[in-house]
Amino acid sequence: MNFRPYEPADLSRVIEVYSTSIRCLAAAYYTADQIAAWAPTKPDVAPWQQRLDSLHTIVAEDNGVLAGFASYEKNGHLDLLFTHPEFARRGVATQLYLKIESVLRTAGIPEIFTEASLAARPFFEHLRFHLDAEELVECRGARLRRFRMHKQISKA
Ligand SMILES: CC(C)(COP(=O)(O)OP(=O)(O)OC[C@H]1O[C@@H](n2cnc3c(N)ncnc32)[C@H](O)[C@@H]1OP(=O)(O)O)[C@@H](O)C(=O)NCCC(=O)NCCS
Repeated sequence: MNFRPYEPADLSRVIEVYSTSIRCLAAAYYTADQIAAWAPTKPDVAPWQQRLDSLHTIVAEDNGVLAGFASYEKNGHLDLLFTHPEFARRGVATQLYLKIESVLRTAGIPEIFTEASLAARPFFEHLRFHLDAEELVECRGARLRRFRMHKQISKA
């Protein structure tokens, strides 16, 4: 598995990993309407481009196939974390996360925080994230349950 910074040429593959991951790995946790709202069949590329431009993103690649990606901000916010279903439970998200944790710890950031989906909560609990609050977020007309979680990574 090769880990490298996101490049603009990865855009369509990143959107594909996001969509497939939600439709497959998150389907057991949300209704069909919620999944359809979260991962629309015709994703809007321009907002994706803008969002990725404003984030730091690492991709995991296996023989040219995009296995997953993770996006964060320099304040410690882990914004996106998605593994392609074909690579699920093989440590891809863990490796992506640990790379980000290492960068942020070196930068002196005291904690990483995220908004975990129902599908991702066990993953973050496995990494010893703490639960701060449950919330309902509006997404293209649907309301999705998610969890604000954080992990202290270095002393403030
Ligand atoms: C959450 C997600 C990123 C995890 O990716 P992954 O590459 O499969 O995770 P890893 O293989 O690194 O998992 C590490 C550990 O986390 C835990 N874990 C991961 N997924 C889990 C699940 N679905 N149920 C229970 N525990 C899980 C396990 O302890 C796992 O270790 P194990 O496989 O040895 O038991 C992936 O399932 C995903 O993309 N889900 C759908 C989209 C989503 O909700 N993304 C997050 C948005 S906040």
